[in-house]
Amino acid sequence: MTEKIVAITGASNGMGLEAALLFAKRGWKVYAGARRVEKIPQDEDKIIAVKLDVTDSASNQDFVQQILTQAGHIDVLINNAGYGEYGPAEEISMDKIRKQFETNFFGAVELTQLILPTMRAQNYGRIVNISSIGGDGYMPLGAYYHATKAAIQQWSDVLDLEVSQFGIRSVCVQPGGTQSSWGAIALNNSKANLSEHSPYQPLVDSVSSGLERFMKSSAKASDLAEVFYKAATEIKPSLRYLHSFSDKFMVNVARKHPQVFRRAILAAMRYFERQNKK
Ligand SMILES: NC(=O)c1ccc[n+]([C@@H]2O[C@H](COP(=O)([O-])OP(=O)(O)OC[C@H]3O[C@@H](n4cnc5c(N)ncnc54)[C@H](OP(=O)(O)O)[C@@H]3O)[C@@H](O)[C@H]2O)c1
Repeated sequence: MTEKIVAITGASNGMGLEAALLFAKRGWKVYAGARRVEKIPQDEDKIIAVKLDVTDSASNQDFVQQILTQAGHIDVLINNAGYGEYGPAEEISMDKIRKQFETNFFGAVELTQLILPTMRAQNYGRIVNISSIGGDGYMPLGAYYHATKAAIQQWSDVLDLEVSQFGIRSVCVQPGGTQSSWGAIALNNSKANLSEHSPYQPLVDSVSSGLERFMKSSAKASDLAEVFYKAATEIKPSLRYLHSFSDKFMVNVARKHPQVFRRAILAAMRYFERQNKK
């Protein structure tokens, strides 16, 4: 039987790393990409660690070239690399906003374009895009992060319509709060993006304490790796994969009752504001 091949971006930490370990344990060969390649466990038989920066076209081309030269085919691409450039929408620099889209959205787009000709020739392939419950829902300070996740969902759905005729499916996983470096990076960014004497300082303080609490009660990255695996292997895939009941509830409210969702977020903001003043 031909060896199953999966390419995973952002595999040096968190959900991408756990997914790499899980696929390898289940007999797949994993091409695991990240900038901090030294953090990826190398196991020539199962996990090939590759230096990858998804914002760099040459790096994306090298990544795909290495997979196709060595393995000759690819079953699944998991577009997982991402982070939250949090901060007030008014104050984040355009350079950082562009980098947010380069990483969370354009990187996935470019890798997918590079891999699709091979998947079409195989008449099989699965693109798994790691969005977020924040692809439908949102919170203050996440304007550009949420915009990238909403973008990847719309793009994935259109792509799926176009490529399913070739036996290829494009689906999204929407994790909720999950233990990883994501929360610390988003919190640091929300502080680093504040200007001097910013009028948004109190908002950053209250949202930060809310985000800290939210991340404490979050899922394990290994649980989400199981969801990635399901999205990658289910014979008749869904367009969306969510982990917990509360994630599904939140996404449902955000989609079907946008006013209710907004009121709930405003109430949470006021609650954390009061807590911060105590
Ligand atoms: N944790 C959450 O609560 C949560 C919730 C919803 C969605 N998500 C999404 O889930 C995905 C995985 O996040 P995580 O929680 O596992 O976070 P994480 O622990 O911070 O891991 C993020 C991964 O992305 C990689 N990465 C970042 N920029 C990259 C670039 N330019 N090129 C290649 N790799 C890059 C990082 O590797 P290097 O730094 O080594 O490159 C790292 O391996 C992200 O798309 C995130 O937005 C997370």
